[in-house]
Amino acid sequence: MIFGLILAGGKGTRMGNVEKPKQFMDLCGKPIIVHTIEKFVINSSFEKIIVLSPKQWIKHTQDIVKKYLPNADKVIIIEGGSTRNETIMNGIKYIEENYILDDETIIVTHDSVRPFVTHRIIEENINYTQKYGACDTVIPATDTIVESCNNEYITDIPDRSKMYQGQTPQTFYAKRLKELYMSLTEEEKEVLTDASKILTLKGDKVYLVDGEVYNIKITYPYDLRVAQALLGSSDIK
Ligand code: CTP
Repeated sequence: MIFGLILAGGKGTRMGNVEKPKQFMDLCGKPIIVHTIEKFVINSSFEKIIVLSPKQWIKHTQDIVKKYLPNADKVIIIEGGSTRNETIMNGIKYIEENYILDDETIIVTHDSVRPFVTHRIIEENINYTQKYGACDTVIPATDTIVESCNNEYITDIPDRSKMYQGQTPQTFYAKRLKELYMSLTEEEKEVLTDASKILTLKGDKVYLVDGEVYNIKITYPYDLRVAQALLGSSDIK
């Protein structure tokens, strides 16, 4: 079975002092998260699309899904976790308790604040995971990446041709991800904020799916303005 996990458990602190987490802010007439869920709803591969929301926003999430996506009967809204990875683990726990968590169970994990994900990207995530075991959506780095281990001066400039920017979805076999996550120490859990890194650290291969430059994450107020402008451009509607 294949499940979509829409990660919406964050508070959006970098968005500034707004009255609700950024995933619930308006983007051209509907909440950002609704744009995102819509991209998953049109894909028939999903058994369920699990939206993980902060506890105090679950009711609100239910209300907006009912309002904007009244026929989306595959959408389930449950509580997220204290970190992004804990949110993913809550999704896996829900699958385990309500469905079957076996070697075939795939989760397509996606940021609720990346509303421009495409059908092609979701399809390739599913196909690559079935073929290779795990995948991550990336685009080639356009800027040179500069490393500074002390935040004062450059310690390395890696070869740009080997550098990518990570996007989402990130897609995994749920049982494998859970096993590896459970094997981490509390300290490792704090450092490993990226789900793909859990696998790479343990030697599992995570394959690259081509993202899109416009598959942006809305993090700062500036990104919301970019997203509004993108929605005005007909080719990605
Ligand atoms: N996320 C989540 N559970 C958490 C933290 C984050 O599901 N405990 C989700 C966010 O809701 C978001 C995605 O992970 O859709 C990407 O994270 P990010 O942009 O960092 O979101 P926030 O944590 O909300 O933002 P900030 O770091 O500015 O507080």
